Amino acid sequence: MNVALKVTAETGGRRVLEGQRALVTGANSGIGAGIVEGLASAGARVVINYVSRPDEAQRLVRKIKDSGGEAIAIQADVSQEHQVRAMFEQTIEELGGLEILVNNAGLQKDSALVDMSLQDWDTVIRVNLTGQFLCAREAAREFIRRGVTSSLSSSAGKIVCVSSVHDVIPWAGHANYAASKGGVMMLMKTMAQELAAHKIRVNSISPGAIKTPINHSAWSTAEKEAELLQLIPYGRVGVTHDIARAAVWLASDESDYVTGATLYVDGGMTLYPGFENGG
Ligand code: BGC
Repeated sequence: MNVALKVTAETGGRRVLEGQRALVTGANSGIGAGIVEGLASAGARVVINYVSRPDEAQRLVRKIKDSGGEAIAIQADVSQEHQVRAMFEQTIEELGGLEILVNNAGLQKDSALVDMSLQDWDTVIRVNLTGQFLCAREAAREFIRRGVTSSLSSSAGKIVCVSSVHDVIPWAGHANYAASKGGVMMLMKTMAQELAAHKIRVNSISPGAIKTPINHSAWSTAEKEAELLQLIPYGRVGVTHDIARAAVWLASDESDYVTGATLYVDGGMTLYPGFENGG
């Protein structure tokens, strides 16, 4: 990882989330793990939610503690209501409160529409969309209960939804995934409208192609990566730090007047690159 990309460098060395408490779902690997590191280096105390591979979550807890931060790991399947409630109860009990939720947990189960099983459709909608609803609902309840009381932030709470460029770009062979992310966009905007009066800000980050296990096959060989780059005008595949920096900004008072917005962090993938020389 390029040291120049360190989040604290981007915030001018200021720890813009000092003392705030953040829960990140699906945080033991990929974009979620990158976001956890970003929030922690900006001063937040973090909850690393995971559903499987506890060793990865524990490794991340240790890494954050070793660099002077505070972190705990909590196992919960975000698609299961009782597990989500228990996770928020444990978070409030152990950290004493919560200022930030990053709704990141998500998965793909790809297939052609005509071959897609109802089970694969349901699993993706349940984790990617219903999971965001369940976690946002618990977070909003806590933010409303507490209100704007702390000196830590101008708002009562912040929710950052991790969506995808596929909330606007249709994606053949991924109907369940694209539908879930399109749903996340309207869930985010509706929550933003509904919760603004409570001084809760809700925004999305929509990543393009970011090097993580979820899309490994798209960049694992030089040929594959070259093919992928044809979809990315900026000329590089993203890294998790690109998303972490956006998450820190949206979670901090630096973005205090921003709500209901989608930040595309995609190297221009949503700019219809096929039209550069066509149309
Ligand atoms: C998907 C990745 C994909 C990227 C760009 C993401 O939402 O999870 O698999 O590479 O969109 O298409």
